[in-house]
Formats: sequence, structure tokens, C-alpha cells
Amino acid sequence: MPQNIIELDGVKLTLPSAAGPVNILRGIDLAIGAGEAAGLVGPSGSGKSTLLMVLAGLERPSSGRIRSAGQDLTGLGEDALARFRRDHIGIVFQSFHLIPTMTALENVAIPLEFAGRGDAFARAEEELRLVGLGHRLT
Ligand SMILES: Nc1ncnc2c1ncn2[C@@H]1O[C@H](COP(=O)(O)OP(=O)(O)O)[C@@H](O)[C@H]1O
Ligand SMILES: [Mg+2]
Repeated sequence: MPQNIIELDGVKLTLPSAAGPVNILRGIDLAIGAGEAAGLVGPSGSGKSTLLMVLAGLERPSSGRIRSAGQDLTGLGEDALARFRRDHIGIVFQSFHLIPTMTALENVAIPLEFAGRGDAFARAEEELRLVGLGHRLT
């Protein structure tokens, strides 16, 4: 059996709103295997973005258990969640959230520096060249 990279067990998320509490996620059980590509499909407002936030450790569920990349996210504090995201999560948002005052090279290298990689700038340059952005480094 392939190893699961993501496992959700009875994940619920309720958030307050002006109209009262909204039960956005109501007991999600989910397993995604390592190397598997998964798509999430559903009507607008059904909770897709919220589920991704929870999977990425950007939002903490009200109850239930999440294992991701071999780590149990249940009960992790803000700092531990930030480290988890730094080490394991990559997200391409619809709006990219690039830092406009920094070059393309700096935007790619900074998270690697935060992760303690001594070769952050060399690696960032290599990856940018790999995706055809070698002419946009600076
Ligand atoms: N921060 C929030 N506070 C209260 N309700 C929210 C919040 N974020 C999302 N919702 C509600 O949760 C539901 C699911 O939203 P969302 O995850 O954005 O759905 P989708 O991405 O599938 O369109 C919607 O009814 C939305 O209004
Ligand atoms: Mg959405």
C-alpha cells in the first residue's frame, strides 16, 4: 500500500460570521498517497479553499486530526505551523503574493534562506533558469 502524504480524520471547521456560526467543514475524512495528484471539485462556497487552508496549516480545524508529510498538525502552535509550512508546503495563489520591492531571484531565494539553506541564491537561480526565467533574475 502506498504511503499517505496527507490524512484527514473527522476534520471540522466552524467560523463565526455576522449571521452566526458557519459549519464550513463537517467531518472530512481524506487520504492522499505520496506522489498522487489530486483535484478538488465542488460548487462555489462548498469549502474548497477552506479545506486547502487547513491542509496547508494556514487554518486550524475546530476538531479532527490532520497528518501531513508525516507530521501530526493537531495541536501545533503558530510557530510550529509556520515551520511546517516553510519545510513542506508550496502554494501558488491566484494572486501570487510576490514581494514587489524584491527581484524575482530574491523572491525565490528568501524562503530558502529562512529554511537555513546556505545555497539559497544559487539554488533559486538554478530553479528560475529551469523554468525559463533566467532572463528575469534581477
Ligand atoms: N473566514 C471566514 N469566516 C466565515 N465564513 C467563511 C470564512 N471563509 C469562508 N467562509 C464561508 O465558508 C464557506 C466555504 O467557503 P470557501 O472555502 O471559500 O468555498 P469555495 O472555495 O469552495 O468557494 C462559504 O460559505 C464562505 O462564505
Ligand atoms: Mg475558493
